[in-house]
Amino acid sequence: MNQPAWHDSVMMKAVRREPTARPPVWLMRQAGRYMAEYRAVREKVGFLELCRTPRLAAEIMLTAVETLNVDAAIIFSDLLPILEPMGFGLEFTPSDGPVVHRPIRTPDDVRRVVPLIEPNDLEPISYVFDVVEATRRGLSPDLPLIGFAGAPFTLAGYAIEGGGSKDFRNTKTFMYRYPDAWRELMEKLADTLAAYLNAQADAGVQIVQVFDSWVGCLSDTDYRTCVLPYSKRLLEQVRTVPSIHFGTGNPALLPLLREAGGDIIGVDWRLSLEKAWEAIGPDRGIQGNLDPVVLLSDPETIRASVRKMLRLAGGKPGHIVNLGHGVLPQTPVEHARVMVETVKAYTSYTEGS
Ligand code: CP3
Repeated sequence: MNQPAWHDSVMMKAVRREPTARPPVWLMRQAGRYMAEYRAVREKVGFLELCRTPRLAAEIMLTAVETLNVDAAIIFSDLLPILEPMGFGLEFTPSDGPVVHRPIRTPDDVRRVVPLIEPNDLEPISYVFDVVEATRRGLSPDLPLIGFAGAPFTLAGYAIEGGGSKDFRNTKTFMYRYPDAWRELMEKLADTLAAYLNAQADAGVQIVQVFDSWVGCLSDTDYRTCVLPYSKRLLEQVRTVPSIHFGTGNPALLPLLREAGGDIIGVDWRLSLEKAWEAIGPDRGIQGNLDPVVLLSDPETIRASVRKMLRLAGGKPGHIVNLGHGVLPQTPVEHARVMVETVKAYTSYTEGS
């Protein structure tokens, strides 16, 4: 059978844990404020409006992919727009980041959260599927496109805090105090996010990534009881494309993230790549895990850090090179390029150093 060109890309091979001459590389938040082209567009267009304008959103990602020469594109969007059709208001303010209006305060509030299950329910957010189509159309056929969503815990965090938080105190209080309402909320989120990711797959992404960006504020035991069942429920429903399951902040959760599911587990920098892979187990792939702060240093340090990470991965199939979290806004673009180039030169330096 004739496979599409992206099928045998280094990225797709790594996702299937097939051997490749070098690992694939892309960067979380690879299109963003650290790029002059992005800042120029943002001077004219608000962030949410940008997410809702497929032509611009696609162009921003395609420019980033070309500038960095990475092995995969991710759709330009955000974790939070899915909350709007679920009944929340959403705003991005220049100073405070995202603000979620009408946050959940009581178990009663959970009842008014609208789950989006049927294809028609997702109509208000169909612009994301248009972004998928526009990006796929403009992208080189041999590069895969990644879709994404937040994990149930991270989205519950925004819905309960009404925005970002250092310690997710309100979220955890709600989780401890109202276990039944918590379950109802997490089930609604898991099923909605599954429908959302499956619709992205239908629109043309080759892989999906689930971001549990703030889950590290939990203990392993709380994760097991209060979060794992719902991340699992979400990932089990994503059947047509492979998935990357990303969590940060607490390396003790790695075996549990793996248990919840995902073909590839995305890890931060808090454990070395070798130890993180041990915690995940040899029968899954790994994505990561350069500290994004390394990209603020200098080219020589970046090269040395990337090479060290690649040595720790030991050339095993199933490693996708990435940062341990998103690119920081202060990152010089040239430094991100050095990271990518160093990975792409992998075979030449394994012989020497
Ligand atoms: O990777 C990419 O380049 C694709 C685009 C992407 C964005 N957000 C664009 C964005 C992706 C994959 C995300 C995911 C996202 N959004 C996460 C998970 C990744 C992570 O960092 O953990 C989270 C937690 C969010 C929520 C969010 N969006 C916050 C907290 C903020 C404000 C703080 C910040 O980092 O800017 C955003 C805004 C946002 N999302 C911007 C971009 C390019 C900046 C918006 C601007 O132009 O001001």
